[in-house]
Amino acid sequence: MNHEKHESLDSNIDEPVVGPSLAGPVTTTTPSLAPALPQTSSSTARRGFLRSSLGLMGAAAAGTLGFAKSVVAASNLPPEVPSWSRVLGSGVLTNPYGQPSPFEANVQRRTVDWLTPDRVASISFTPLADLKGIITPSGLVFERYHAGVPEIDPDQHRLMIHGMVDRPITLTMSDLMRFPATSRIAFLECPANGGMEWRGAQMNGVQFTHGMLACCEWTGVLLSTLLAEVGISKKASWILAEGADGASMSRSIPMDKALDDALIVYAQNGEALRPEQGYPVRLINPGWEGNTCIKWLRRLEVGDQPWYQREETSKYSDLMPDGSAREFTFVQECNSVITSPSPEKPLSDGKGKYWVEGLAWSGRGKIKGVDVSFDGGRTFRQAKFTSIVLPRALTRFGIELDWDGSPLLLQSRAVDDTGYVQPTYQQLRDVRGTNSIYHKNAIHTWKVLPTGGVANVQLS
Ligand code: CO
Repeated sequence: MNHEKHESLDSNIDEPVVGPSLAGPVTTTTPSLAPALPQTSSSTARRGFLRSSLGLMGAAAAGTLGFAKSVVAASNLPPEVPSWSRVLGSGVLTNPYGQPSPFEANVQRRTVDWLTPDRVASISFTPLADLKGIITPSGLVFERYHAGVPEIDPDQHRLMIHGMVDRPITLTMSDLMRFPATSRIAFLECPANGGMEWRGAQMNGVQFTHGMLACCEWTGVLLSTLLAEVGISKKASWILAEGADGASMSRSIPMDKALDDALIVYAQNGEALRPEQGYPVRLINPGWEGNTCIKWLRRLEVGDQPWYQREETSKYSDLMPDGSAREFTFVQECNSVITSPSPEKPLSDGKGKYWVEGLAWSGRGKIKGVDVSFDGGRTFRQAKFTSIVLPRALTRFGIELDWDGSPLLLQSRAVDDTGYVQPTYQQLRDVRGTNSIYHKNAIHTWKVLPTGGVANVQLS
């Protein structure tokens, strides 16, 4: 396996960060956030959608956003009987495995092609602005590959557990499913989430500023159950998890986490894992770097020290201002972001009331509170939770805005149940500098313009 061929995101993420900032428009091309909707009846009523290409732009360009309403046929509006009520619809099994409405075709994962030289060692982003509640649909969970998605026949897949154990075992998938099962809802976040924003606001869209993030119900077997089955040595303190992808993606996991809440999962959101998410089996370390949640899991080796693999030394470590690097920084700290309004969800209906909402999460526990500012952090108001609040899961919050048409600087600031408060950029940079890629959890700012357009800005 030639690892040189699989440059990780991180070595490439550094380059584009330097230039583009709020100083001016960016010429780099990224996919539009609003590709054309599928061709359907032009008389179909639908909510206004964002027609402008918003893929990537500076704040200066964001002021030129235009919003268009589709043509609405009076014959489809009350008191008339709309056209779709006058004909029979399609029957059962038209779509044996259901798909979203074609009018939701704009809701999709997207990538940023300049981040990586190819798409087999790359990342795509979850469309956070269009999601509701706290569960990410399986087909919209962000992707991160180091050597593409392996196509694995579950009948030919095995999970081997060996090393400092009394009884090494090799499990088939059906063996694994004979162990007591458990389900839990947990977020999954790449530690590089927001990594392009360390040196300034760059990505104009919440999909790209925060979209290496998802939350699913995961079902499988507690790793502690499997470790009890094999019997671990008294000296054992680390476990190596290795994937069956072409990169043999692997990470060292401390035994404390393995015996606490680590899960070996084969299902997400009620269905088998999607291939992109590690089918047929993966590791989930709730609240920890997504990178540690090894997909296509084929091997767990028990040992008494970390292995210092490539993806926990040269990558997924944190370069500090003094030139040293922090390693094994596993926890995804408390973070939050407003998902609407956002560049994808402008205030397109003029002055008046809007529902401001977003997501908060902490790898250390439950979200205790979220405060929202409309004036760049001068004053804050307490937002409401609009979802259940679970440890190490996304939590949705919302607050009403009565907009008078003046510019706003929207922020959210989350606090978790350890008392940790999400930092400002200044607070984060005072400790971490600007050379980092990972673990950027600073308070994010959206600037709402008098047009209703929303731009990504950073406040000094
Ligand atoms: Co880390």
